[in-house]
Amino acid sequence: MIAATRIGALRERIGEEVRIQGWLYNRRSSGKLEFLLVRDGSGTVQCVAVKAELPEDVFAKCSTVTQESSLRVTGVVREDKRAPSGVELSLRDLEIVGPSVDFPITPKEHGPSFLLDQRHLWIRSQRQAAILKVRHSLVQACREWLNADGFILADAPIFTPSACEGTTTLFETQYFDEKAYLTQSGQLYNEATAMAFGKTYCFGPTFRAEKSKTRRHLIEFWMVEPEVAFATLDDVMGLIERFVEGIVGRVLEERREELKVLERDVAPLERVRAPFPRLSYDEATRVLAQKGLPFEWGSDFGAADETALTEGYDRPFFVHRFPAAVKAFYMKRDPRDDRLSLSCDLLAPEGYGEIVGGGEREDSLETLIARIREHQLPTEAFEWYLDLRRYGSVPHSGFGMGIERTLTWLCGIEHLRETIPFPRMLNRLRP
Ligand code: 4AD
Ligand code: MG
Repeated sequence: MIAATRIGALRERIGEEVRIQGWLYNRRSSGKLEFLLVRDGSGTVQCVAVKAELPEDVFAKCSTVTQESSLRVTGVVREDKRAPSGVELSLRDLEIVGPSVDFPITPKEHGPSFLLDQRHLWIRSQRQAAILKVRHSLVQACREWLNADGFILADAPIFTPSACEGTTTLFETQYFDEKAYLTQSGQLYNEATAMAFGKTYCFGPTFRAEKSKTRRHLIEFWMVEPEVAFATLDDVMGLIERFVEGIVGRVLEERREELKVLERDVAPLERVRAPFPRLSYDEATRVLAQKGLPFEWGSDFGAADETALTEGYDRPFFVHRFPAAVKAFYMKRDPRDDRLSLSCDLLAPEGYGEIVGGGEREDSLETLIARIREHQLPTEAFEWYLDLRRYGSVPHSGFGMGIERTLTWLCGIEHLRETIPFPRMLNRLRP
């Protein structure tokens, strides 16, 4: 038996007899012809079965095989300039590996709740597979960009004894005889590894018990978090814009086909070039006032505020120096205005809003102890973190970029639930 060929590689085998293995995506027939659309994850190809050229039993199998049955097809590769794959297969033989009866997702419209219940099967669809391939490239792009820039990967733990991003969204769990929390962010550990490596990052799942049901929030999401010793807020904004320009460029290079499947207009993505505009929180509040939004100085932006702010920009932009009161305990204060923090968010255009949060960390031991007390956090749990200020403290800054938020923007879709293989949301733990 000839070795199987991946559909994505058929273009190099024109004129040859090959064997492919995959699943039936769709079937059309015209009596004397059967068109089997077969996918295998690397691509989709149309296999044409001609009744007059095939043994009766083979053609009978072709005309009865059902959606999502797994199969092996032997056939000859023909060039077909009209096909997305550039080729089609003249079918010689068909073997059904595993039948599929009444596949629940049919080409008709289904509601989002039904599709989410069927997520384990839904990911086989062309659109969902395209989004997840963009995700694959984005993750690779983040890692490769940071590695090439001299960052050392040092992943942070998932089980943690303390909060990083406030106590309201902590997931509590039992850790033998003591309580532990699922990590909200690897940042505190990055601050330790940055003192070891100078430039470091972690990349992993993070957890927030967000009680809000929005299209921007997941309970479990992935974050890439770089941290740099001796970097200021300005330095980290410069790093973020170079990084985002780099990864968007890479995704555009690698995933044109998938973005086309998603009907994403790539022109706005092609405009993602550093430097990005920088807007202070003060300036941003004035913009919101001009737009007539009921926004009060001192509060954090809601989704509607962020969307309104994005209207003025054709590329990602920063909002920096948020009020300290709406940010986490570790944020360094602005030496020019103690009400403000040396923080920044990067907002994606086209209404998407925040994809990155970051800033400069408090580096003074005394101030940090005071902040931990102000935030009513247990000092004992942070003793190791305070050591970083006891032994060679330096100014340092970093950021976290949410993978699913970034993908929602890159793919130009409505809701971030489609950007992760198996979303965890309020009221959804399954499948
Ligand atoms: O702004 P956040 O909370 O910042 C931090 O966690 C910092 N400790 C990161 C750092 O400096 N190392 O979260 C960072 C990003 C957000 O900008 C957003 O993209 C994403 O994480 N994010 C979420 N994504 C999906 N669902 C949620 N519930 C999210 N919460 C934050
Ligand atoms: Mg944030």
